[in-house]
Amino acid sequence: MDRKVVIFDHPLIQHKLSILRDENTTTKDFRELINEISMLMMFEATRDLPMEEIEVKTPCGIAKCHQLAGRKLAFVPILRAGLGMVDGCLKLVPSARVGHIGLYRDETTHTPVEYYCKLPKDIEERDVFVVDPMLATGGSAVDAISQIKLRKPRKIVFMCTIAAPEGLEALEKAHPDVDIYCAALDEKLNDDCYIIPGLGDAGDRIFGTK
Ligand code: PRP
Ligand code: URA
Repeated sequence: MDRKVVIFDHPLIQHKLSILRDENTTTKDFRELINEISMLMMFEATRDLPMEEIEVKTPCGIAKCHQLAGRKLAFVPILRAGLGMVDGCLKLVPSARVGHIGLYRDETTHTPVEYYCKLPKDIEERDVFVVDPMLATGGSAVDAISQIKLRKPRKIVFMCTIAAPEGLEALEKAHPDVDIYCAALDEKLNDDCYIIPGLGDAGDRIFGTK
C-alpha cells in the first residue's frame, strides 16, 4: 500500500519538542508549544495538496501563480488532548472545518471508550486530519479513524507529536491507507501503557488537571 509514515526531523520541531517533554514546562508554555509544533507539522503534512495554475495581475505585469485546487479540509481532534493541536492547524488553514471525537482510555484495560462524535456534515468532500498528541497503544487512533471512515471522507491523515512503536504498528496494521505524521518515535510503553520517555499525560499537561 502506497502510504506515508513521516517522523519529522526538522530542527524547529525537535527543539520545541524537547521543551514540551520537560517536566518543568508550565501549562501555559506547553499549550503554546503544542500549537506551534502542530502548525509546523501541518505545514509539511499538507505538502501534497493539489494546486492549480492562475494568472494574477501585479502592478507590473501578469504573474503565473499557483493556488490550492479547492481541496476542502477538516481537522478532527481526539478529545481531550487533541484539542491542544487545533489552533495551530487552523492558523495555516483557517477555512477548515473542525469535528470532534471524544475517547478516553479505560484506566484498567487501557482500551478506548467513546463518549462523543460530531463530524462536519459534508465530510465526504473533505480530507480529514485526525490529531492527537499521543499514539501509545494506538487504540484511540484506530477507533477514531474507524468511526470517521464510516462517514466516508475523501482521505484520512493522522498527526501526533509522540508515537510509541506499539501504537505505530497497530495503526499501520488497522488502517494501511492512512498517512501518519509524528514528531518523534519513542522507545516503548510502560506497564500502564504510557509512552517512555514521552511527556506524561498530554491532556493533564494541556489543561493543567494534575
Ligand atoms: C490520551 C491521548 C490519546 C490516548 C493515546 O488520551 O491523548 O487519545 O491517550 O493512548 P492509546 O494510543 O493507548 O489509545 P486519554 O485517554 O488520556 O484522554 P484525555 O485526552 O481525555 O486525557
Ligand atoms: N496518553 C498520554 O497522554 N500519554 C501517554 O504517554 C500515553 C497515553
